[in-house]
Amino acid sequence: MTTTLSLIRPDDWHLHLRDGDALRAVLPHTARQFARAIVMPNLKPPVTTTALALDYRRRILDALPIEGPGADFEPLMTLYLTDRTPPDEMRRACEAGIVALKLYPAGATTNSDAGVTDIRKTYKTLEAMQREGLLLLVHGEVTDAEIDLFDREAVFIDRVLQPLRRDFPGLKIVFEHITTREAAQYVAAGDARLAATITAHHLLFNRNAIFLGGLRPHYYCLPVLKREEHRLALVAAATSGSPKFFLGTDSAPHAAVLKEHAAACAGCYTALSALELYAQAFESAGALDKLESFASFHGADFYGLPRNRGRITLRRQPWTLPESLPFGAQQLKPLCGGETLNWKLESAA
Ligand code: DOR
Ligand code: ZN
Repeated sequence: MTTTLSLIRPDDWHLHLRDGDALRAVLPHTARQFARAIVMPNLKPPVTTTALALDYRRRILDALPIEGPGADFEPLMTLYLTDRTPPDEMRRACEAGIVALKLYPAGATTNSDAGVTDIRKTYKTLEAMQREGLLLLVHGEVTDAEIDLFDREAVFIDRVLQPLRRDFPGLKIVFEHITTREAAQYVAAGDARLAATITAHHLLFNRNAIFLGGLRPHYYCLPVLKREEHRLALVAAATSGSPKFFLGTDSAPHAAVLKEHAAACAGCYTALSALELYAQAFESAGALDKLESFASFHGADFYGLPRNRGRITLRRQPWTLPESLPFGAQQLKPLCGGETLNWKLESAA
């Protein structure tokens, strides 16, 4: 039986770091596991300009440990796409090292009110992105009230993603945190400019987890967990070896009081044990040998960035996740808190 796993240091291609005290509470967890992360721009107010993104980057760097594990973590910055993002901002963004823009359909999720109301309003900006080589990261759910919540991702493919890819064949698109068989199939069948991230929680759980023994808000995220057949399709995609699928935790911290609430916030906090959760999912699928390429190679290759050099080691060593963590003046409850995982991250070099 495999007892240690040595991987090239991985990256997290979809992460929420928040700001202020929350940022300082969660950043060390990601920085000790990952060399780089794509940082989501859905702050309040959203990160809509290059200047705001550079300020945010500075606050992230200032929150890193000065030395030791995680000190060399590199945040990869994104801008929040709106109906009015100016096309000429794309040149500035590119020159400043911004790597991507995030498309939130308005109203789809946490802090998405300033998002895009009609994709056609962004076409001039998408043209400029295509020219500059900026990636488009997509929250792929329609927001129409008449579409069932569980169908919103599949409908998004037909209504938004297909036309978008037809109109911008040169644009690199990441279909973020896919949750359905339809999305996995669509990405697998697409050309080399289309890829997807998959979270650990969508690999480990189906929608029953939200309701097991009572309503469990820590399992509520968007896009919401789906049926078992979809989870199995995601596991098959993640462990297929296809370079079109890679790691993106979508770790999304919310104070416990806002999760355990009448209108619970969407988001699962997984950064504390991200790789351990992925290792658990890959091991259950008998595919531990596919973890390194999914976690450490495919994302960097798709983004056109160098692969990392350092290594990390995971050891087979059962450990119990804390139930709660400090989160500024509040508490943060990690997904699977109080439960035992089989793998533990040992060291980063
Ligand atoms: O569950 C989610 N939480 N999904 C998102 O799209 C946003 C995220 C957050 O920012 O909390
Ligand atoms: Zn997210």
